[in-house]
Amino acid sequence: MPNFVSLPGFRDFYPGDLAVRKHIMTVWREVACRYGFEEYDGPPLEPTELYVEKSGPEIVQQLYNFADKGDRDVSLRPEMTPTLARMVGARASAMRKPIKWFSMPQLFRYERAQRGRLREHFQLNLDIVGEAGVGADIELIAAAIDVLRAFGLTSTDFVVRISDRRLLRALLLHAQVPEDRLIRVYNIVDKLERESRESVAERLGEEVGLGEAATDEVLAIFGHRDFEAVRNAYGGTHGIGEEIARMRELFEGLEAFGLADYVRFDLGIVRGLAYYTGVVFEIFDIQGELRAICGGGRYDDLLGLVSGSDLPALGLGMGDVVLRELLAGRGLLPATDRLLDYYVVAVTPDERPDVLRLVHCLREAGHSVDYALRHQGVGKQLKSASALNATRAIIIGPDEVADGVVVVRTMTSGEEERVPMDGVAVTEVG
Ligand code: HAM
Repeated sequence: MPNFVSLPGFRDFYPGDLAVRKHIMTVWREVACRYGFEEYDGPPLEPTELYVEKSGPEIVQQLYNFADKGDRDVSLRPEMTPTLARMVGARASAMRKPIKWFSMPQLFRYERAQRGRLREHFQLNLDIVGEAGVGADIELIAAAIDVLRAFGLTSTDFVVRISDRRLLRALLLHAQVPEDRLIRVYNIVDKLERESRESVAERLGEEVGLGEAATDEVLAIFGHRDFEAVRNAYGGTHGIGEEIARMRELFEGLEAFGLADYVRFDLGIVRGLAYYTGVVFEIFDIQGELRAICGGGRYDDLLGLVSGSDLPALGLGMGDVVLRELLAGRGLLPATDRLLDYYVVAVTPDERPDVLRLVHCLREAGHSVDYALRHQGVGKQLKSASALNATRAIIIGPDEVADGVVVVRTMTSGEEERVPMDGVAVTEVG
């Protein structure tokens, strides 16, 4: 017998797992709607070209791509942002700005499967198109925080680490990094936390061709861990001061929202994707045990590249895999036992037609109802009622049929009541 198992990095969602996934998506949708985002979706398969160049080498290496039967080079979507850019771009001129859209796609990346990283995941995407000002960045980050708060998480559980690629760019140019090598530097410093200083210095020399002085200067920039340190060091420097002022406005906005405890300035946040142009952020668990829960930022050039509609945009992606681990660790996952309103019991096979009629009536009235698909003893049927977490069992025997009543038993107390058969379907379930 072949022993089939799922592919590495792909999940089976048994009912308990699916109940958790549904809970996560319900909260995502609820908060997105509260913030005025509208839901959309796109195709799970896209032309590979949509991702090449725009998303950058990290994602392109991870594409599930193949030639389809029409010899098109296609990819399962590894992220939603290029699809969003294409869709919004195509109709942008007719749409009221800012456009606030959300989606919850399943995404596919051929990654090395490990804790917090799989080959498929679901991702909440929130995006705002058509607003270049920092007010949109504040709104997006506030929404991300409130999504996590809606799960019961607090500032003792997670932190949003925020930077700005414009500020980083100004700092790196000041450190004599040539403009055309900025992206390569971003990709190297993005790993700063996971690699030693020495190996980063070596890579800046070997892969970017930076001299010793520029390398030291770049590393010194990342030595400034808090906002005040960067402001003191560079606030008066031409070309950097205005970037620092914008960052300040961002933090002031989040403070006014009452969310200052959730955010921290961190120049080390660069983001792996190529298209980001402004404020970038990632959300981590406070303990730093897990990978990023969420990442996002401003990508003002992508719509122009994908669709020719030159509109500023920003957005975020929050994955279900790390979030689920964090919620499980904090005991914040809901009970996933299914609940049944009624289990209907036939005392003898003769009552079966009455059982079926009543089951159908109750279901029509919106109750969740189950019963034995073949006749069983009453004891066995009542055991099933308990096992299925039924609130009430309804028992129908020959005497009840003769009297036109049923016995309604409350499962927790064992209390029983005789109710007219015609009245039971309108009874409220407590
Ligand atoms: P990303 O940083 O690649 O951004 O992914 C966002 C989040 O999705 C991550 O922080 C992580 O929680 C989750 N995630 C990513 N890859 C995996 C994986 N292989 N397994 C499990 N979870 C994963 C983006 O995708 C951007 N498109 C987000 C965005 C939207 N930017 C602007 N708009």
